[in-house]
Amino acid sequence: MTALLDDALDAAALLRAGALVAFPTETVYGLGADARNGAAVAAIFEAKGRPHFNPLICHFPDAEAAFAEVRADDRARALAAAFWPGPLTLVLPRRADCRVDLLAGAGLDTLAVRVPDHALALAVLRAAGTPVAAPSANRSGRVSPTTPAHVMEELEGRIAAILDGGECAVGVESTVLDLSGGKAVLLRPGGVPVEAIEAIIGPVGRPIPPGAGPAPTLRSPGLLLSHYAPTLPLRLDATEVAADEALLAFGPPLPGAALVAQLSEARDATEAARNLFGALRRLDAEGQRLGLRGIAAMPVPGEGLAPAIRDRLARAAAPRG
Ligand code: TXA
Ligand code: MG
Repeated sequence: MTALLDDALDAAALLRAGALVAFPTETVYGLGADARNGAAVAAIFEAKGRPHFNPLICHFPDAEAAFAEVRADDRARALAAAFWPGPLTLVLPRRADCRVDLLAGAGLDTLAVRVPDHALALAVLRAAGTPVAAPSANRSGRVSPTTPAHVMEELEGRIAAILDGGECAVGVESTVLDLSGGKAVLLRPGGVPVEAIEAIIGPVGRPIPPGAGPAPTLRSPGLLLSHYAPTLPLRLDATEVAADEALLAFGPPLPGAALVAQLSEARDATEAARNLFGALRRLDAEGQRLGLRGIAAMPVPGEGLAPAIRDRLARAAAPRG
């Protein structure tokens, strides 16, 4: 049903034929389709159960290929030079002759583009010779996959193949930056810290933290409050833990939990990002097996990748809609 591939050329051939193929990136596994092919793009939404108003990121082998489909300004070019290939997604105006199917961009006049920093992904993109639309390769609303086994758990039987690139190095999704208006706006904190972006283009507008105001549905339709959700309820900023809870630890674990997953003993946010989604999956599966009532997450303070981790945890803990 769903084949496990180890050759990027096989993955590219399937994409060109209109099939859905999950492939590794430095952040998380993506569920790829030929972005010019409306039927293939529609199949992504179908396989994920993703609402059609939530646009997809298009992936390219280099900035030149990306900027053939969208209009880059000086800020976009400077950021591409600094961070591509890498975990930064830029939202830019579509060019009039943009080849990407409108459904991939949810009908918006902007398109999100990125160049992933992963040898296999770049090989696929080069060989495919087409923009590749790819959301994270999970069912909509669930935890993003960072291994081929996670992708199988989510999408086995629904997609043609998975290209095996082992574990993802960064572990949280790309930073999404909207450059389509006058002021740059951070739509999703991610693999490139916002401080690093500001060092290049100056001040960036920050999002309203999840739950703290009206949902930012107009600017980024996909930033639904409840997202990245395990099945067990998640409790944030735990300072104690009960005997019938699982603990997501950051640093020395709180005592007394039935089950513990460590994000980073040394409280290193980069290491914690890499472990985040796998740890949530493990606690969720094991915790349900043990009949636990929920997952308690210790606070993850600081800068760097910590804001992306806090964002994902807040969404995982949000009331389910
Ligand atoms: O690291 C990543 O970005 C991964 C890998 C596979 O590249 N992809 C990923 O895709 O996380 P996805 O679909 O799970 O998240 C894409 C986010 C969503 O929040 C979506 O709403 C937003 O980007 N987005 C996409 N196109 C947009 C646009 N034109 N305007 C505003 N937001 C957009
Ligand atoms: Mg996603």
